[in-house]
Amino acid sequence: MIREAVNKEHNIDTKVSAVDLVTETDQAVEKLIFSRLLGLYPAHASIGEESTAGGARCVLTDTPTWIVDPIDGTTNFVHRYPNSCVSIGLAIGKQPAVGVVYNPLLDELFTATRGGGAFLNGAPISVSRCDALRNALLISEFGSDRKEEYMNIKFANMRAVINDAHGLRCVGSAALNLCAIAAGRADAYFEFGIHCWDVAAGALVLSEAGGVVSNLPPNGDDASQHFAAENCLDRYDMMRRQVLGASTVQLAREIAALIKPIEYTPD
Ligand code: IPD
Ligand code: CA
Repeated sequence: MIREAVNKEHNIDTKVSAVDLVTETDQAVEKLIFSRLLGLYPAHASIGEESTAGGARCVLTDTPTWIVDPIDGTTNFVHRYPNSCVSIGLAIGKQPAVGVVYNPLLDELFTATRGGGAFLNGAPISVSRCDALRNALLISEFGSDRKEEYMNIKFANMRAVINDAHGLRCVGSAALNLCAIAAGRADAYFEFGIHCWDVAAGALVLSEAGGVVSNLPPNGDDASQHFAAENCLDRYDMMRRQVLGASTVQLAREIAALIKPIEYTPD
């Protein structure tokens, strides 16, 4: 549906801000996914980006919950920049259990199950093992919030890491950013202001590929104490609207020590 729709004229609407875009394809894809999934699993719960925009409650409980972003990278989709995906996560007991991220434009399917590894089009993937900022290719994003105070922090964070890093990319899809780290195409990604549907699937893909997925230590806390190599994903709260994903704990610590978290109101 996305592949066919990308070259057609889009009916574009806006949501929370003037740069928070939605098209009829976002809505149609979400409807299709939930009708199939909840048809198969009627006792399960659901959270979807467009259902939430339409007024549905965004609450994560212990009930198995399908967390769906029908198009992650809607701005890319609207501009025909080929970096958008469908993101489907299943959380059980609030923990990611299944993650599926599909970029139909490049025909790349990232999948993961808890404890079962991570795959790209069926082949196992793993992180780069980069453990120092001076060797790292980073990803971050501005998101769709243009609040002056937060924009200043986002710029300052990018400024704080860029001197030492090999580079910094903003490519417009949180789910694909996490999968890029999982596949060893980049080494770390951080963003503030994302939502659970942006990260539910990609966080599991990255964790299963051997990477680190974490919230940021609250302002002033010692980043070196914050990251544990084991069970990192268990402690990740995807409702807190922030993510730091990295190939290694060492790299995550180095970045966390340089950037300032933004505490958005949780989902
Ligand atoms: C957005 C993308 C983007 C990120 C934003 C998200 P959407 O999701 O993941 O990369 O910077 O924070 O909202 O709106 O395209 O589903
Ligand atoms: Ca979306």
